[in-house]
Amino acid sequence: MTAQDQVARAGTEALEVAPLDVTAVRADFPILERTVRGGKPLVYLDSANTSQKPRQVIDTLTDFYERHNANIHRATHELGEEATEAYEGARIKVARFIGTADETEVIFTKNVSEAINLVAYSIGNATSPLGLREGDEIVITEMEHHSNIVPWQLLCERTGARLRWFSVTRDGRLDLTHADELINPRTRLVAIAHQSNVLGTVNPVTEIAARAHAAGALVLVDAAQSAPHGMVDVASLGADLVGFTGHKMCGPTGVGVLWGRRELLDQLPPFLGGGEMIESVWMDHSTFAPPPHKFEAGTMPIAQAVGLGAAVDYLTALGAAPIQAHEQELLQHALPALAEIDGLRILGPTEAVDRGGAISFTLDGIHPHDLSQVLDDRGIAVRAGHHCAWPLHRAMGVQASSRASFYLYNTHAEVDALADGIRQAQKFFGIA
Ligand SMILES: Cc1ncc(COP(=O)(O)O)c(C=O)c1O
Repeated sequence: MTAQDQVARAGTEALEVAPLDVTAVRADFPILERTVRGGKPLVYLDSANTSQKPRQVIDTLTDFYERHNANIHRATHELGEEATEAYEGARIKVARFIGTADETEVIFTKNVSEAINLVAYSIGNATSPLGLREGDEIVITEMEHHSNIVPWQLLCERTGARLRWFSVTRDGRLDLTHADELINPRTRLVAIAHQSNVLGTVNPVTEIAARAHAAGALVLVDAAQSAPHGMVDVASLGADLVGFTGHKMCGPTGVGVLWGRRELLDQLPPFLGGGEMIESVWMDHSTFAPPPHKFEAGTMPIAQAVGLGAAVDYLTALGAAPIQAHEQELLQHALPALAEIDGLRILGPTEAVDRGGAISFTLDGIHPHDLSQVLDDRGIAVRAGHHCAWPLHRAMGVQASSRASFYLYNTHAEVDALADGIRQAQKFFGIA
């Protein structure tokens, strides 16, 4: 079963999966105990933006700095050995989390934006057959985060390649009608989100990857929104490159991941130059270390990578299936609860099928920023704006939206608090 199938079926299989003990999960997240805005319990519905961190991750960071801190790979002392072991151990944990046996396919980056830029820059510098020429095409989608749009625009400007995209249907799915025309022998790369950060839509990545490969193109998947739910299995996705970001999956900020097929990483030129990515340096040239180190120049986010390893341990111990089942259950509660509010339009799929736990919506007569302020006064944190997906908002015919996003620590009561808060805002603004 593919990762998408797992998600699509998670709702129906919820009864077969041991339920997540949400009370125990919440006890792991110290920040959920705090109050905001003069004593209101925090209702955190902004995890698609950044997730909260469990005690296990916070303790790992503290322990690293208190007991093991040193630079990696170059320090010839005990602390250096311990730090290196912890950093490389985190790489192995991440590799197993995404289903690869080869940890040299896992590159640490600053975030997923950097992972995507790394690929764009490296392909732009590559010689044939990976390099791009005028007339080549890169295919993205209209529902991408800016991080999976702008690097390709820049690459097209540099190389003369042409940027093309799948459009989005009114109900927030990819319009695959012209897939055969869009993905053609000129296509060199298809870059696509696994799960939309705005619509929640889970895209048919495996199917698109198969088409792209048949046309001879590479496939990059932006898994920023799917990795946090344990949905990334690189083999079943069928991609060549997959990026995600630690801070959305219970890990620290400052660390992301690029996974790539080893043969491809071997062929790609380095991204940044600097210490530890080299094999040898002369005054007139250098040779480079094998992957992943070829792509990790300078002192890396060491503690953050170790913290990401702890986050991966945490998610693995809970299990992908219970996490996904819990989120599907929240979604099945939230979608109708929001849909029945007068004047509320959900952007994207209104049913919990091939859909993750981010719900963006507009509300007649109330700007998303005003709504988020009223909700914030009640302790409810949501996001307002275009969520770094401006073209998608234009395609959906709106300037901005409000987004509530759910994660493993959210509850039905919090969904109800959101619905209540929206109705209160309507009263406040004299809409209802
Ligand atoms: C789908 C998607 N891609 C890329 C990003 C960028 O993530 P980062 O800022 O961690 O690079 C985000 C963050 O919201 C996202 O949701």
